[in-house]
Amino acid sequence: MLASLDDLERQALDELAGVETHEALHAWQAKYFGTKRSKGALEQAMATLATLSPEERPAFGKRVNEVKQTLLDALAKRQAAVKAAELEKALNAETLDVTLPGTPPPRGRLHPSTLTLRRIIQIFSRLGFEVYRSPEVETDEMNFGLLNMPPEHPARDMWDTFYTTRPGVLLRTHTSPGQIRVMRERGANGTRPLRVILPGMVYRYEQVTARSEMQFNQVEGLAIGRNITFADLKGTMAEFARQMFGSAARIRFRCSYFPFTEPSVEVDVYWGLATERDRMITKGTGWLEIAGAGMVHPTVLRNGGYDPAVWSGFAFGMGPERQAMRLLGIGDIRYFWQNDLRFLEQF
Ligand code: DAH
Repeated sequence: MLASLDDLERQALDELAGVETHEALHAWQAKYFGTKRSKGALEQAMATLATLSPEERPAFGKRVNEVKQTLLDALAKRQAAVKAAELEKALNAETLDVTLPGTPPPRGRLHPSTLTLRRIIQIFSRLGFEVYRSPEVETDEMNFGLLNMPPEHPARDMWDTFYTTRPGVLLRTHTSPGQIRVMRERGANGTRPLRVILPGMVYRYEQVTARSEMQFNQVEGLAIGRNITFADLKGTMAEFARQMFGSAARIRFRCSYFPFTEPSVEVDVYWGLATERDRMITKGTGWLEIAGAGMVHPTVLRNGGYDPAVWSGFAFGMGPERQAMRLLGIGDIRYFWQNDLRFLEQF
């Protein structure tokens, strides 16, 4: 009877020696120590105790316990070995070569409008202009009335306007209402000279074409002082164009009309007429309009709290996207807000 226990022990130890994985270890454990649902070999051996004679029982029982202890010790050792081996295997399989070059994340970049706005702001900062911001949602009074266009004034037709459902509230069609705001908020009741630019988005209910969008940026400029003349406006525009487009840039002033300036001009920069596209963008003239400008109308000065008998000023409103087109060779203004990465990644 004892010999069968020796066999059991040897067989179990032999099998255990060949166990390499966790799964095999579990199977071995189930076979000899049993599970909840099945008896193991040791338990089965114990069950034979009852069939033995009383004299044989003590020796048999003692031996069963010895075998059990031996197998438990061996199991613990094997468990540790299997665990170490599996860890080793996993580490080898998941080797990380830290010397391999990584995958570079795509680099973000600034939108061409932002780039251009920053350049414009930089140039005017050097000329002593401060940046001032005013709201994109405006009142009818700010956008038109206080700019010398009372209700029903025909000049309002110059701007196709997005109105909101609230009467008297609209999306600003230009940054010029900022002139009134800055005069009132920073002018100290018309006692302080001003030199500011107001960059920001404007909206127009317009047919979208290669040269006009229904939303775009403008940079408004306003200078107010005691002896400001049209020559200051010309000099400022010429200096700006020189810094923006290079010393060879050609600009011209054309007589124009705006209700909030008198006299009024438009400022063009030479684009060229080499291709059909140039013809389309410049309406066949070779010149691209980049700004409207003029001497601030006395009524507008008064609305801003300044006495036009004492103070004068010039103002301008320019389009950064138009300038970006000129600078970066962009042939169609519609690219700006399409969010096409193939376009945006070029800058
Ligand atoms: N606000 C005008 C527009 O959007 C542009 C403009 C013209 C602005 C003359 C000015 C100005 O400040 O003096 O068409």
